[in-house]
Amino acid sequence: MPDPYTIAWDAETESIVYIDQTLLPGRYEQMRCTTVEDLARAIRRLEVRGAPALGIAGAMGVALAAVRSTETDLGRFLGEIRRAADLLKSTRPTAVNLAWGIDRVARKVAMAASVAEAKAIAVAEANAVAEEDELTCRRLGAFGEELFPAECTVLTHCNAGALACRCWGTALGMIRSAVAAGKNVRVIACETRPLNQGSRLTCWELARDKIDVTLIPDSSAAYLMRKGKIDLVIVGADRITRDAVFNKIGTYMHAVSAHHHGIPFYVAAPVSTFDLARTEKDITVEERDRAELAYCGERMLAPDGVNVLNYAFDATPLDLVDAIITEIGVLRPPYAESFRLVGKGEGAQR
Ligand code: MRU
Repeated sequence: MPDPYTIAWDAETESIVYIDQTLLPGRYEQMRCTTVEDLARAIRRLEVRGAPALGIAGAMGVALAAVRSTETDLGRFLGEIRRAADLLKSTRPTAVNLAWGIDRVARKVAMAASVAEAKAIAVAEANAVAEEDELTCRRLGAFGEELFPAECTVLTHCNAGALACRCWGTALGMIRSAVAAGKNVRVIACETRPLNQGSRLTCWELARDKIDVTLIPDSSAAYLMRKGKIDLVIVGADRITRDAVFNKIGTYMHAVSAHHHGIPFYVAAPVSTFDLARTEKDITVEERDRAELAYCGERMLAPDGVNVLNYAFDATPLDLVDAIITEIGVLRPPYAESFRLVGKGEGAQR
């Protein structure tokens, strides 16, 4: 039996089921959201995380609001949907897929002629978002695996894997596709402080698939590059503007180090992650709670009262990015030209 999807719509109970990623790797548990408030909380706590999975969560959140509504008047019903959409959008500001998934379903719902029709449309569209994500990752992986030599060591940061999508993954999807094509790929996974999505999630899912993975502290990446131990770097993305790639904090330092050492730096992302109407300065970078840095569980890691700055993401300028792998092909510099291809795809103009 295949693994359950990271996040899915349960038609029988009209609710969302998802793998709680805060419990991994110690515990593998599926949770259920029956209200939009539950879902908002799960997103804020990173129980569901990763840009494409957030897109699916946003889409399913609108479906949840729709099916749970007891409103019979279409105008008031659509008001409820708008409020649910605003609540979900407020949970995390940087990954554009969240707003993309929410808006995609909300737009369709707004065209319905009745509440009953709106509910059916919402569920169908949310499921379509999820199904397309799987196809997108497989296509992206097929384009991306061609960039791998027959034998190589790849450094990755955070988790851009099956857990960040419906399944398969973007950056890790490329790795899975390369392994499936018979290539000998070793992965170096950065732990990705402070929430350790690299050590907890990337190592967990690659080890489970029997893909050769070695965990390193974030701080040793540049030294490994200097020692010639890394052949290429692949990361995911939370938003791609006209001038920069936003991804988990620490990505920029890997890009700078890779550039310095002449190592290719690749970004894997679906078209839904592009936000070409904006530039870096327009984007809010999520800042998270001081406790994520100052504590490890109950244990204090920093003195009480010390100032903490905890950005969740950083921005890597495009001149450090050698290629962006998408489901429509591999985009290379000059990006002003190759982005025209994306402009024709859905998701580019938000
Ligand atoms: O804070 P997170 O865990 O949601 O951050 C996730 C990342 O930064 C991923 O690299 C990104 O979303 C790409 S996922 C395919």
